[in-house]
Amino acid sequence: MAPPPPAGEHYFSAHAAAGPTELQSRQVTLAGREVEVMTAPGVFSYEHLDQGTEVLLRSVPAPDADREGAVLDLGCGWGPLALTLALDLADAERPDVTVWAVDVNERALDLVRRNAKRLGLSQIRAALPAQVPAGLRFGTIWSNPPIRIGKPALHALLEGWLSRLTPGGTAHLVVAKHLGADSLHSWLAARLETGLPSAPQTGRTSDAAPIHGAVAGSGAVAGSGAVAGSGAVAGSGSAEESGRDASDGDSTRVHGTVSRTTTSKGFRVLSITRTR
Ligand SMILES: C[S@@+](CC[C@H](N)C(=O)[O-])C[C@H]1O[C@@H](n2cnc3c(N)ncnc32)[C@H](O)[C@@H]1O
Repeated sequence: MAPPPPAGEHYFSAHAAAGPTELQSRQVTLAGREVEVMTAPGVFSYEHLDQGTEVLLRSVPAPDADREGAVLDLGCGWGPLALTLALDLADAERPDVTVWAVDVNERALDLVRRNAKRLGLSQIRAALPAQVPAGLRFGTIWSNPPIRIGKPALHALLEGWLSRLTPGGTAHLVVAKHLGADSLHSWLAARLETGLPSAPQTGRTSDAAPIHGAVAGSGAVAGSGAVAGSGAVAGSGSAEESGRDASDGDSTRVHGTVSRTTTSKGFRVLSITRTR
């Protein structure tokens, strides 16, 4: 478990980018190789790879690069999931698939950018939630979600992002049993059966900074800052850029199934597949 944050602060508080004296180098194993990454205090589990994250990485298959849509690490921290997703896609010779690393903590996003650059993973885009184009849809979502933001905010967060799965798309979430994995499973099953309201398709273009070069598309910044609990925000890219599903009208609801894998160390991996 990560050490507790300083009094009055949380790992999900907004922090400015780490200064040179705060940056710390770590050796970790991601996608089967030893890599060096940078972390810093003020970011979730900055001293080591979190146990839940490790469980997720061991339990789920590499992303299917042929599935329609982009790939998302929701609540990326310093980036272990996004970096692994991009390494897996590089192994599959699919560096063209964009991996979005999303967090409300600017310091985390800065670390992801540094780590992606260090590992030569130019398909990672680190962004605040409000900077992700609204029309973007995801074929794969991995998350060690921020349970500690509280149930209402967590539910709103998951509804917002899971409703952006492409049909057939899959999300894998790791949650500790003692932090409510089983009740989250029941809630997800009920919500996915009733159907989530589909996410808005339109808005303005984001300015999410890619690791190298400019983001395709143009326009004003859709907004910035911490958007606790919401993934459905203004912003749009072209349908080509976004992986948008043209048949997915705003009036439809997003249905799916959720299965639960029990792992060692008291974690559950909840796997959601969008069925329609
Ligand atoms: C449990 S940590 C996981 C971090 C990282 N994925 C890892 O495995 O080490 C959850 C992350 O979610 C972020 N977070 C909190 N609220 C969020 C929100 N509304 N939208 C996106 N990310 C959020 C936190 O800042 C934190 O980095």
